[in-house]
Amino acid sequence: MTAITNHMPTAELQALDAAHHMHPFTENGALAEKGARVITRAKGVYLTDSEGAEILDAMAGLWCVNIGYGRDELAEAAARQIRELPYYNTFFQTTHVPVIALSAKLAELAPGDLNHVFFASGGSDANDTNIRMVRTYWAEKGKPDKKVIISRHNAYHGSSVGSASLGGMSGMHAQGGIPIPDIHHINQPDWWSEGGNMTPEDFGLARARELEEAILELGEDRVAAFIAEPVQGAGGVIVAPDTYWPEIQRICDKYEILLIADEVICGFGRTGNWFGSETLRIRPHIMTVAKGMSSGYQPIGASIVCDEVAAVIGACEFNHGYTYSGHPVASAVALENLRILQEERVIEHVRDVAAPYLKQQLETLSDHPLVGEVKIVGMMGSIALTPHKDTRAKFASEAGTAGLICRERCFANNLIMRHVGDRMVVSPPLVITPDEIDILINRARKSLDECHATLKERDLMRAAS
Ligand SMILES: Cc1ncc(COP(=O)(O)O)c(C=O)c1O
Repeated sequence: MTAITNHMPTAELQALDAAHHMHPFTENGALAEKGARVITRAKGVYLTDSEGAEILDAMAGLWCVNIGYGRDELAEAAARQIRELPYYNTFFQTTHVPVIALSAKLAELAPGDLNHVFFASGGSDANDTNIRMVRTYWAEKGKPDKKVIISRHNAYHGSSVGSASLGGMSGMHAQGGIPIPDIHHINQPDWWSEGGNMTPEDFGLARARELEEAILELGEDRVAAFIAEPVQGAGGVIVAPDTYWPEIQRICDKYEILLIADEVICGFGRTGNWFGSETLRIRPHIMTVAKGMSSGYQPIGASIVCDEVAAVIGACEFNHGYTYSGHPVASAVALENLRILQEERVIEHVRDVAAPYLKQQLETLSDHPLVGEVKIVGMMGSIALTPHKDTRAKFASEAGTAGLICRERCFANNLIMRHVGDRMVVSPPLVITPDEIDILINRARKSLDECHATLKERDLMRAAS
């Protein structure tokens, strides 16, 4: 077989891809007909495809490339570590320098007494660790029945059997025999779509109190933990009303429920602080991290655990771990990424420059006839598409029809934005500049205009009754 390189014609690469590569979350048969877009390189906030188009990546890959593409320092860190110690495990009373350094660094950055780190290869398996860890914690404390984990509908916590069970994606639960037992879901705090005539404040309280109702219904002695993303990402950048999180914190405190903050997207600057828990003022016992920890340059995830839980887990043999837990190369790259985030003051750039400007510019889209709510926290934002903004109406067409058309227009205009149902989502690299934000917004507006024209043409601007 000849070498497959960046220089092959796009059609040949697409044909090979279609023949042998099964894409995640994709109808592969349909994609094979169309051909996948082939990305060949990237720098800063731009991707280049095999046709030479420069695409502004307003999703930072999958919400992960926080420092932007093409940083040589991370390539050097990986090369150095591969030469020195490409792999060793941390199972049998051994450790190595990159994992020691990264653990200490994460303990320093994480709020409160989150001082202990259990590594994984990504967010899904870190959440699997959490399921087993919180249940083991309560069992070790003599409460083996305390094993129900409460989560939320439309949450995303990963794609493994455990983490997808925690998640509340109905499409995922429809396949493969999940959820596993003892996971319970309550409703999400999505005021725009589900708030009806309530004020956002009352709605936020009502949705938080569903946690209390669930605990009382299931029995306090059966509930181990509540897990939630500080801001729901894959669910469509759902920002809870201000009343929600203080009430959730009160309930977790009152009933001694462990709080797990899934920071896989929110962590490492995305919300304008190191962690979303700081932005939303919550005090988790465990934080799930991944993505921005290495800016996606290496696959790595972790559970960052508080002193009390770590002490209880540390007093037993926790029969859990992954071959690549604390992988030396991934750890070295993550450390270098954290150094850059810190020394280049990327979180300050988000707070003082990029996030305020992105908010201001994204909000200029509110005057567009297709745009309902614009929501943004730090560098994660969403735009709800609607056929009738005054009534927060949904489209009569199947959910996601308008969103998909809009995403396709974005793609054609060399802008990566994702659609979640009929919401458009942005989550660009944190290092994006105001000039690049202008380009992002211009392309988004053009795509919205084109989407609007198509919807009108196809008589799809009708509201659901
Ligand atoms: C909040 C959250 N948790 C967990 C995951 C799963 O992470 P991974 O895809 O690295 O397994 C994701 C991925 O998008 C996520 O957004």
